[in-house]
Amino acid sequence: MNPIKPVIIVHGGAKTITEDKVEANHIGCRAAVEAGWEVLSNGGSAAEAVEAAIQVLESDQTFNAGFGSTLNSEGEVEVDAAMMDGTTLSWGAVAAVQGLRHPISAARRIMEEKPRLLVARSGERFALEHGLAMCSKDDLIAEEQYQEWKEEAEVIDRPNTVGCVALDIHGNLVAATSTGGTTGQPQGRVGDTALVGCGLYADNRLGACSTTGDGESIIPVVLAKTAIDALAGDRHPQEAAQHAIATLKDRVEGEAGCILIDRQGRIGWAYNSQHMAVAYRTDELSEPATFIEKE
Ligand code: GLY
Repeated sequence: MNPIKPVIIVHGGAKTITEDKVEANHIGCRAAVEAGWEVLSNGGSAAEAVEAAIQVLESDQTFNAGFGSTLNSEGEVEVDAAMMDGTTLSWGAVAAVQGLRHPISAARRIMEEKPRLLVARSGERFALEHGLAMCSKDDLIAEEQYQEWKEEAEVIDRPNTVGCVALDIHGNLVAATSTGGTTGQPQGRVGDTALVGCGLYADNRLGACSTTGDGESIIPVVLAKTAIDALAGDRHPQEAAQHAIATLKDRVEGEAGCILIDRQGRIGWAYNSQHMAVAYRTDELSEPATFIEKE
């Protein structure tokens, strides 16, 4: 039997990327893939790899997750994150939490301990009790986001969610997604990111998917599960991704994107926004391939 070759893909959100942000999107997505690849190429698990990749994106103010998240109506960073394991179908999520350096790490610990969605104070308490990195909620506010919120400026480069999918050498697929939500969202609003089937899905029998875009549009079409179901019959992930985005366009309005890896390690992605920052790495590449548009 051929050994399983690891694969990793990340997205930095379905959005419009203005010229001055192109390089930062390439650099950030590349760094995230490199962090995840380091784990996978040393035999680490897909869960560890997606956590490492998303931590990089959560630390980079180019992206709407962790530090640099968009601000809610109260001028606060309030975030959601989730992870799902394709072997066990275990999952974990936090929503509307504040003061977590890496919400994705809380989602992973919850997934490994007991599948649940922990909201607001219960998610924050879980992170604290599990020794995860905490900070003042103001420490997650980037200057650019604060100025936009204060001036109520029209956000052209609307940042929108990060995600990662990985296949490890054991054949396990994991999906993860992390977001600061939408600009000026009401306190406590939660979109698709924390919801299994919508913001992410992983099942080793088919594949794994992370989505990005307008939560209110992604939820009714259960975007991640729609993409995964479209892999049936060994359909290529590129076709499945396009099918999922076409379904969203047919049924609801809104912008979205998705990234997929199937059980054979094939990748695909699609979006209906102007751009989507994507990077991936396979065994056949000597370095990550990065994109802001599908060629
Ligand atoms: N996709 C992120 C959100 O709508 O909250």
